Amino acid sequence: MQVIKYAFQQHGDERGQLVALEEHKDIPFEIKRVYYMYDTGIDVHRGFHAHKSLEQIMICIHGSCKVLLDNGKEKKVVFLEKPYEGLYIANNMWREMYDFSKDAVLMVLASDYYDEKDYIRNYDEFLKTVEQYSKGEEANK
Ligand code: TYD
Repeated sequence: MQVIKYAFQQHGDERGQLVALEEHKDIPFEIKRVYYMYDTGIDVHRGFHAHKSLEQIMICIHGSCKVLLDNGKEKKVVFLEKPYEGLYIANNMWREMYDFSKDAVLMVLASDYYDEKDYIRNYDEFLKTVEQYSKGEEANK
């Protein structure tokens, strides 16, 4: 399983750093929604879902946190701690976010508006979805 992490360009000078993100340039999709999590409790685990079609980029713009990615076959843990690093999360990818530092601000850029129908919140249903998807891929070969 390949983890796709973007290192965004930093426009630094003696005043400090600045990162600019443009859709279809720095971000591989149209950005229709931005949301962020902060004041997350130390022992809190969030996420526990996949999306049928939504693509996202997670950026821990302050502090740090961990993201567990699970494609139904393999799991990887990614540590996010740099405000210029973006973790790409494709559709059909289960995610869990945890180990938030007290000061963590986790920002998410999303390719579509909030739609509860796009969520897969049941892990068994997620496994079935990815199995069906890989069967479809096989049939198309
Ligand atoms: P939730 O889906 O529980 O977050 P997590 O990613 O940790 O699973 O979202 C928390 C609440 O925020 C829930 O009431 C839905 C709401 N929400 C929106 O209104 N818009 C959004 O874009 C998101 C991500 C959540």
